[in-house]
Parts: sequence; C-alpha cells; structure tokens
Amino acid sequence: MGNSGNLRLSRVLLGVTAGIAAYKAAELSRLLIKQGHQVQVVMTPGAKNFVHELTFQSITGSQVRHMLFDPAHEAAMGHIELARWAEFVLIAPASADFIAKLYAGMADTLLHTLCLAVQAPIAIAPAMNRNMWANPAVQHNIMGLQQRGMTIWGPAVGDQACGDVGPGRMLEPLELSQRLKDYCHSSTGGSFIGRKVLVTAGPTYEPLDPVRFIGNRSSGKMGFAIAQALSDEGADTVLIAGPVNLMTPQGCQRINVQTARQMYDAVMEHIQDIDVFIGCAAVADYRPEMMLANKIKKGDAEMQITLVKNPDILQSVAALPKRPFCVGFAAETENLEEYAKAKLRAKNIDMIAANQVGEDQGFESDENALLVFWLEGEKQLSKQTKSTLAKQLVELVSEQLNKD
Ligand code: CTP
Repeated sequence: MGNSGNLRLSRVLLGVTAGIAAYKAAELSRLLIKQGHQVQVVMTPGAKNFVHELTFQSITGSQVRHMLFDPAHEAAMGHIELARWAEFVLIAPASADFIAKLYAGMADTLLHTLCLAVQAPIAIAPAMNRNMWANPAVQHNIMGLQQRGMTIWGPAVGDQACGDVGPGRMLEPLELSQRLKDYCHSSTGGSFIGRKVLVTAGPTYEPLDPVRFIGNRSSGKMGFAIAQALSDEGADTVLIAGPVNLMTPQGCQRINVQTARQMYDAVMEHIQDIDVFIGCAAVADYRPEMMLANKIKKGDAEMQITLVKNPDILQSVAALPKRPFCVGFAAETENLEEYAKAKLRAKNIDMIAANQVGEDQGFESDENALLVFWLEGEKQLSKQTKSTLAKQLVELVSEQLNKD
C-alpha cells in the first residue's frame, strides 16, 4: 500500500462519523497502532456527540482534526497536506449521511474534503439501522462508491443499538483491523497471506521448588524475530513464548508459558489448522521429577535431583496425522551439520536451522548465523541480525512450502 512496501510504515487516516459505533472506533485506533500504523483521526462534527476527541488523542498521541477552517491546524498541516500524508483512509463508522455526501462529492466537512483530495485508497465501514441500510438511496450510494473504487467493509449482521436485528452493524474493530492487515499484505504481496503459523520461542523453566528452577540461556530473540517476519508476510501468527522479557511482535497472538509441559499443552491446543510450525524454543529436555511445595533447605554436602523426560513438542507435532510443515532448530556446540541432519531425520521434520552456540554466538546475542537443511537441500545464512536472518529463513520456508 502506498509506496512503503511495509505494513509497519503505513499512515492511516481514520475517519469517524456520527453513529453510536463511534465508540468502537477508539478500540479500532488502538488496534491499528498495535499493528504498527501511524493513525490520524479526523472526526465529523456530529461524531463528537458520541465520543470525545480526547479519547482518540490519548490513544493515537496526535491531535484529532475535525474543523475545515482551523487556522492553527491549517498552519501546521493543511488539509491538502493531510490528504497527501494518508496512505490509507478508513471511515469507521460511516453513517448514511456521510456516505450520501461522499457520493454527492460534497466538501462541507474536513473529512469529506479529505476524501475528495486524497489519492490513497478509501475503505468504508457502514454503520446504521438495518432499514436505513436496506433503503434504495443508501444502496445506490454504496454501489456508486464501490464503482468509483472505494472498498466497503461490512456491515455485519446482528443486534443493533436501536433494538433491531439485521444487517447494519459496523464490523467489529478486530475484524476491521484484520481487513486492513490483509489489504496491506495483498498489496505488498505477502508470501504467507492466508496461512496460519505457530512459533515457539524462548526457554522453559522447570521448577524445583517455589523459588528455584532449571532453565537455559535462550533469550527468545530468534523466535520473536521469526514470528514478526511471518506476521509481516501476512501469516496469522500464534507465538507461544517461554519466560522472556520481549515485546510481543506486531500482529501476533502471544501465549505465555513457563514449563515444557505448559508449552506442549498450549501448542496442542492451537495446532489445528496450522500450516507451518516453527519450534524455535529451547525446550528443557528434562524436568525435576517433583516440584517441592516448600523451599529446599541446605543439608548434606551433596544432593541428588531426579530428572524425568519432557515431551518432545516438535516431534509430537511432526507425528500428528494431519501435520503442518515442521521446522526445528538445533543449537549445537560441536558437529553442527551431523547433529542437525540427524535431528531432521529423527524428528521427521521438513527443515532444520542449525546454529553454533557458545562464545558470543547464539542465545543472548542480537546476531546469529544459521545452516539450514531440508530433505533435498541446504543453505548457509551468514552472520547478521536476528531480524534479517528471520526474514531469510521465512523466505526459505515459503519456497519449500510452495514447491508442492
Ligand atoms: N524441542 C521440542 N521439545 C523438546 C525438545 C526440543 O520441541 N522437548 C525442539 C526445539 O524447539 C528445537 C528442536 O526440538 O526445534 C531441537 O531441540 P534440541 O534440544 O537441540 O534437540 P534434542 O532433540 O533435545 O537433542 P539434544 O538436546 O540431545 O541435542
């Protein structure tokens, strides 16, 4: 969309018109920001009867525009500049009155004027009573706008604020933000559009007692970078994260877990319909046989802890009757290629990304290098930032996925 080529750079002008659904536009603005857009809200004068501009201002961090003739705002960014700024215009909710005036090409509010001046795509999310929606005048206007290339999202069918039930409700903010995401990806050609992926990341902590655990040095950075890269390519991304201190990648659904067994359960709960599973977590292979209820006290010179095996999540996913494309990781301190290839076969997975750990490479570093193997090939991804590496790995997965 626009010329950014990147979902996170897009500038969205969110138009809010007079309708009870205007209060939902606040949540929509929050979701759009969470997706990485810059959001400028423009309200029609009537919309201010339904929701206060301060609400939007607090969420978006920028002043809401609503007046056409506002010397202060015009001096800062005139309405034509604002029209040029926008890479996408979303009108949500769009009232019957707004739609009629838009169809007529009127320019008596700032939002209408912007819609005439803007070069960017315009999407409209109508919201009105079902009889109003069914009215031939509204339908005529909607069809006219569609013919001019505007996109109509919704309306949804359901309970209405007036008590009626039928088509006319504004699509829910989550649905609208998803539509915008899909739109961005379809216009930038995201290679995972329509695909569902599940990524595990970070370490697992296996408790010994209420204050101690067995863990490892995984930072989760690689898995989080992979989840971000997949989401940027349009994947519907679920990220199951062990205990790490990282921001949730934009557009991903994150589920936090602590132990290997919790990670296993979370994966199995979400694995249905998943097209690609990427096991990037450094899952503890063993856990203490028992977690003691109270803190273990100092005692003899030696102590023994019995460890029992954790389920192998990757192997279990790969053994499912309807299995996704499975990618594993192998962190090795020696014999990288030999061990990685052995894991590819043993776990019956489709691809494995091997990395050398130790020195300043691997777990806690921001950079990494990978040697990737699949059944008929291999590729060396040289040392670089984990985010660049993640993009290259995602591209490799896409190539293999699209081969069949
Ligand atoms: N893995 C998993 N569940 C486990 C252990 C590992 O899903 N209980 C996954 C990891 O996410 C990784 C891959 O398996 O993608 C390889 O993990 P690794 O621990 O290196 O392999 P192991 O099979 O445990 O072999 P070893 O520890 O002996 O090297």
